[in-house]
Amino acid sequence: MTPAPYGLLAEVTHQCPLHCLYCSNPLELRRRDEEIGTEDWLRVIREAADLGVVQVHFSGGEPLVRGDLAELVAEARGCELYTNLITSGLGLTEERAKSLVVAGLNSVQLSIQGDTAEASELVAATKRFDKKREAARIIVDSGLPLNMNVVLHRLNLDRLDAIIDVCESWGAERLELANTQYYGWGLRNRDLLLPGREQLAAAEKVYQRRKAELAGRMELLWILPDYYEPYPKPCMGGWARTALTVAPDGSVYPCPVAADIDTLDFPSVLAHPLDWIWAKSPAFQAYRGTDWMPDPCRSCSRKEIDFGGCRCQAFALTGDASRTDPVCTYSPDHHLVQDAVDRANDTPVAAPEPVYRRPRAAAE
Ligand code: SF4
Ligand code: FES
Repeated sequence: MTPAPYGLLAEVTHQCPLHCLYCSNPLELRRRDEEIGTEDWLRVIREAADLGVVQVHFSGGEPLVRGDLAELVAEARGCELYTNLITSGLGLTEERAKSLVVAGLNSVQLSIQGDTAEASELVAATKRFDKKREAARIIVDSGLPLNMNVVLHRLNLDRLDAIIDVCESWGAERLELANTQYYGWGLRNRDLLLPGREQLAAAEKVYQRRKAELAGRMELLWILPDYYEPYPKPCMGGWARTALTVAPDGSVYPCPVAADIDTLDFPSVLAHPLDWIWAKSPAFQAYRGTDWMPDPCRSCSRKEIDFGGCRCQAFALTGDASRTDPVCTYSPDHHLVQDAVDRANDTPVAAPEPVYRRPRAAAE
């Protein structure tokens, strides 16, 4: 028996007002006219609850773009699921927040890109920092716990103290400091975003100091920069092991980035029930457990700890999702990561031009 997934990431849309340099959505975004409708989402939520899911994270893109969001939240709460909204905050009004609270929303994770409008613009090609501040106020006033998220990289790590100050002053209960992952869109901007070792170490000291100072008031979490770790992260807790992602068009993936792995045929909720997709579909079986592993993972004592790392990172860097994550010191492809780390620690040359994320055109 395959254990039940714990979480569902409901990517209700890829439409987004931001254009982040490290966007974690797949390279090929789904257009608005490809999105599944309300009835299909309501069915997916019921099927997820039947499957054993206990948490739904409504995400995107910007999930507030969808007018039926409160209806989806209400359905999830009706199925006794914990509901979390992952948002840029752009588009959140008092009325919208009220409707989400009435629907039973449990928590909100608000992202910022920096501590000022200018810093936000550099990363997301849009200023609107004042709208994020306003969104934080609305969330706190509506009685929802405010969790915040900031993706860290070379352009904002030196501002970490100020970033933490902003989140504290806005009333955050929890702040996730996530070092950038370099697959998907982030890989295109890797030489611009990957910090040097000294910059990273200085920021980690700031994190440790502030974590101690803020204990009991605001929880700080540090998501490791895997390029500077000897072993990879146990990405998603292992392939198809704890969570699943439903994309805006109804395609289902073990993680949000897996859509980029074009060697697998991912199933859709329009063609199959979620329990079959989770337990039986070939794409979900492909890298589940440890039987699929090549060496060095196959004979490694850490294979039940990190599950060979991230399949999406292996695919993005080598073109083969079954290879050992190149972050791993033992990987035969480790030089692909080490070369980038060496460049990030070399004497700086001119910074590369930023490549901002743009939506696919409707006629594409
Ligand atoms: Fe993990 Fe594989 Fe590296 Fe061992 S060889 S540490 S299992 S990625
Ligand atoms: Fe897909 Fe790591 S992001 S497995």
